Amino acid sequence: MAVLVTGGAGYIGSHTAAALLERGEEIVVIDNLQQGHREALLGGKLYVGDLRDAEFMDTVFKENKIDAVIHFAANSLVGESMKLPGKYYHNNVYGTLCLLEKMNEHGVGKIVFSSTAATYGEPENIPIDEYDRTLPTNAYGETKLAMEKMMKWFDVAHGIKYISLRYFNAAGAHASGRIGEDHDPETHLVPIVLETALGKRPHISIFGDDYDTADGTCIRDYIHVSDLADAHVLAVDRLRTGADSAIYNLGNGQGFSVKEVIEIAREVTGKEIPAVVEPRRAGDPAVLVASSERARKELGWNPSRNKLEDIIKSAWAWHVAHPNGYED
Ligand code: UFG
Repeated sequence: MAVLVTGGAGYIGSHTAAALLERGEEIVVIDNLQQGHREALLGGKLYVGDLRDAEFMDTVFKENKIDAVIHFAANSLVGESMKLPGKYYHNNVYGTLCLLEKMNEHGVGKIVFSSTAATYGEPENIPIDEYDRTLPTNAYGETKLAMEKMMKWFDVAHGIKYISLRYFNAAGAHASGRIGEDHDPETHLVPIVLETALGKRPHISIFGDDYDTADGTCIRDYIHVSDLADAHVLAVDRLRTGADSAIYNLGNGQGFSVKEVIEIAREVTGKEIPAVVEPRRAGDPAVLVASSERARKELGWNPSRNKLEDIIKSAWAWHVAHPNGYED
């Protein structure tokens, strides 16, 4: 039986596809290659197309024996979602509806879902656990929450079991050096800091230093992309045992400020990395740190690449080897 990975040519999708291949799983990937890269796939069968294309989806399900789906395919830029919410509802929410309907039609009853800390919005408690309030502050997070809720009702009505994984801040690159982070446009802190270290940008902009934190900059919980990938594999295992649907946070449980991230990147790269303080970016909560106790207990997840220095080292190795991303 094969695992279908939607969005498997993207950043987290390709690392998960690699983790599945490493343990001998058969994989089938769907990607429309809008954000994904063909070169990011180290194996498996790639279908280029869109979840909203019913005929295309029927072909994928008919040509393969699929027992579980891992669903990454979605737009994921917070800023863009505030300007183009329709794009997010169409691709993310309607795309997921199309996928679930096809899964139901073709008798596939397990799905692992790529969710986000953005479902919580401004947190009530730190660290955040899965029972905390979900009140997204941006359209992106709202669509991910809508997708989770849709899965709940497809479980109730059709018995499709889901595990939703709410990631905090993914960073780093695969140990092989063959796959890494390459977004266009890039908006994430770690790759932008490293592009500055490479001289591709004149400086890193620090979005606000007047937050209620020790050094005034935002605090985030950075997690290695390969640790995230491992959690998806464990989630598929769990669903295969017949486990019930569940939601898990994935983070390290330790927060680093923007200034701390830049400082560690200076140490790792040996570069100066000029930084300029600029106004706050709209919608950024001051502190986002996960409690991942539930994932550790129930999935047996044990993130092993959890030192921020090592996460940044692995990302730096990718950036040095691929200064223009997958174009090199
Ligand atoms: N930041 C800067 N300068 C930059 C880029 C980012 O100061 O050039 C700051 C941000 O303001 C934020 C922190 O660095 O405080 C991290 O920003 P990222 O954009 O790397 O990540 P976010 O925490 O905003 O977003 C990530 C994911 C989203 C997800 C969110 C959940 O990228 O998909 O976590 O909160 F929704």
